[in-house]
Amino acid sequence: MRRAVCPGSFDPITNGHLDIIERASKLYDVVHVAVAINKNKQGLFSIEERIALIEETCAPYGNVVVESHQGLLVDFCRERNIPAIVKGLRAVSDFDYELQMAQMNRGLSGVETLFVPTSPTYSFLSSTLVKEVASYGGDVSHLIPAVVHRRLVERIAERAAR
Ligand code: PNS
Repeated sequence: MRRAVCPGSFDPITNGHLDIIERASKLYDVVHVAVAINKNKQGLFSIEERIALIEETCAPYGNVVVESHQGLLVDFCRERNIPAIVKGLRAVSDFDYELQMAQMNRGLSGVETLFVPTSPTYSFLSSTLVKEVASYGGDVSHLIPAVVHRRLVERIAERAAR
């Protein structure tokens, strides 16, 4: 089995993430989506909610496994015999930090990082921007899956009513 991991925060998953996961799913037998648990960062969605949304939206690909992970990504890879990390690169600005992480991860455990150029349609897209635009009432329905959009609008309304 040729395995790869697509790691991230996925708070929430966007069409840009899906583009990368779908393309990875065509190159590998199994794609593990690793949802990072960051105790220092309170997300809009819980880890369980993020996992459920990723599972639902990635179900059509047929070979995607979604899990949370805490700690080093290289340990997640080692425990599951995953030799490759697949990451999307949106712009040159992503490259500096991604290169550092790729070199660090390879130095730590030998795991390789493969960069996939993001579709130009999504080169400006991030979960952070989607949340910000949606929180001010902007239309982000073309940037995230419909189920994610419904949950996002609900969550923003819940937060506003507090
Ligand atoms: O979606 P994000 O927040 O840009 O994803 C960043 C993520 C989770 C992929 C990255 O921070 C990560 O791999 N964290 C796991 C902890 C780790 O291994 N850190 C060392 C990286 S060299």
